[in-house]
Amino acid sequence: MIDGKKVLFSGMQATGTLTLGNYLGALKNWVALSEEYECFYSVVDLHSITVRQDPAELRKRARNLLILYLAAGLNPEKNCIYYQSHVSGHAELAWILNCFTYMGELNRMTQFKDKSQKHADNINAGLFTYPVLMAADILLYQSDVVPVGIDQMQHLEITRDIAQRFNGVYGDVFTIPEAYIGKSGAKIMSLQNPEKKMSKSDENPNASIYLMDDPDTIRRKFKRAVTDSEANIAYREEQPGVRNLLDIYCACTGRMPQDAVAGFQGQGYGQLKEAVGEAVVSVLTPVQEEFARLSKDKSYIDGIIKSNAEKAEYYAAKTLRKVQKKVGFPERIRK
Ligand code: TYM
Repeated sequence: MIDGKKVLFSGMQATGTLTLGNYLGALKNWVALSEEYECFYSVVDLHSITVRQDPAELRKRARNLLILYLAAGLNPEKNCIYYQSHVSGHAELAWILNCFTYMGELNRMTQFKDKSQKHADNINAGLFTYPVLMAADILLYQSDVVPVGIDQMQHLEITRDIAQRFNGVYGDVFTIPEAYIGKSGAKIMSLQNPEKKMSKSDENPNASIYLMDDPDTIRRKFKRAVTDSEANIAYREEQPGVRNLLDIYCACTGRMPQDAVAGFQGQGYGQLKEAVGEAVVSVLTPVQEEFARLSKDKSYIDGIIKSNAEKAEYYAAKTLRKVQKKVGFPERIRK
C-alpha cells in the first residue's frame, strides 16, 4: 500500500514496433486502472538486451515508448513512468531472487523455449533468467496487481512462487501479486494466422496492426485479414479469424461479444472487417495525435523522466533495504 492505495506494476519492452495486441492487452487497461491504484509503469530496457539491440535504436525506441505511455492517457503526475535501467534496484533484487529460483522452474518457461529457438545463436543466461528480473520488477514495489496479456501469465505464476518461497524463509517480506487480465483483448491474434498471437516480431507486416499505422493502412490490413469460408459471423473457437475480429471490435468499443454478434446479424465479413477497422482507427488516432504533440516537447518529457525515476527509486530502495537485511547483508555505515 502507498498512501492507502494498492500498488500496480506493469512494463513493456521497447523492442520491435508496438502492436494493437500490446495496446488492447495491456496499455488500455493500464489507463483504466490508473486512478484506482498507485501505479508504476516501466519501460523495461534491461529485459530488451536479452536479445541483441542496436544501442541508438534501443534508446530511441525506449523514449518513444515512454512518450506513448503518456499519449495513451497515463498521468505522469500521478503514475510513475520511468526507465527500468534508471533504478538499479531492479537488477539488485533480481540477483537475490536468482538465488531463490530453480533451474527446473526456468526450464519450463514457454517464452524461453520460443525465444531460444528464434535466437539460437544467442541463448544467453539473461534470456534464461528473464522471468526472475520480471519478478524483481513486480516485487520491488510490493505490487498487488499486474495488468498483462495472457502470454505473460506463466511469468506471473513464477513471480508468485518466488515471492512465496522467499516469504516462507524470511517472513512476510513481499506482497503476493495478482495478474489482471482484461475482459476482452487479452490475446489478440495475428490477422494472417489467427492461431498465432499478434506479435511485434512477426515478419509479415500484414499480420499486425502497428500503433503508428495510418488509418488507410489499418483499414487495408483488416480488409485482408484471414477469416474462413463459413460466411457466418459467430463468436466461437471453430472460427478463430472471425472471433479475433470480434475480440478486437469489443475491446475497442467496450461491447460484449454476444451483443456485437447480434449487431452484425445479416451482414457479411466485408462489413465486419470495415467496422472493426473503423473502431480501431477511432481508438488509435487520438493516441497518435497526442504522441506527435508530446514528442516535440523535449524539456517536458525530460522533466518527467527525471522526477519519476527519483520517485521509483525511493520506493524501490525501501523494499531493497528490507530484503538485504533479511538475507543477512551488513548494514551500510552512513555517518
Ligand atoms: P511485452 O513487451 O512483450 O508486451 C507488453 C504487454 O503486451 C501484452 N501483449 C498482448 N496482449 C494481448 N494480445 C497480444 N497479441 C499481445 N502481445 C503482447 C503482454 O502480455 C504484455 O502485458 N515481459 C514483459 C514485460 C515485463 C513485464 C514486467 C510485464 C517486464 N517486467 C513486469 C509485467 C510486469 C514483456 O515482454 O511484455
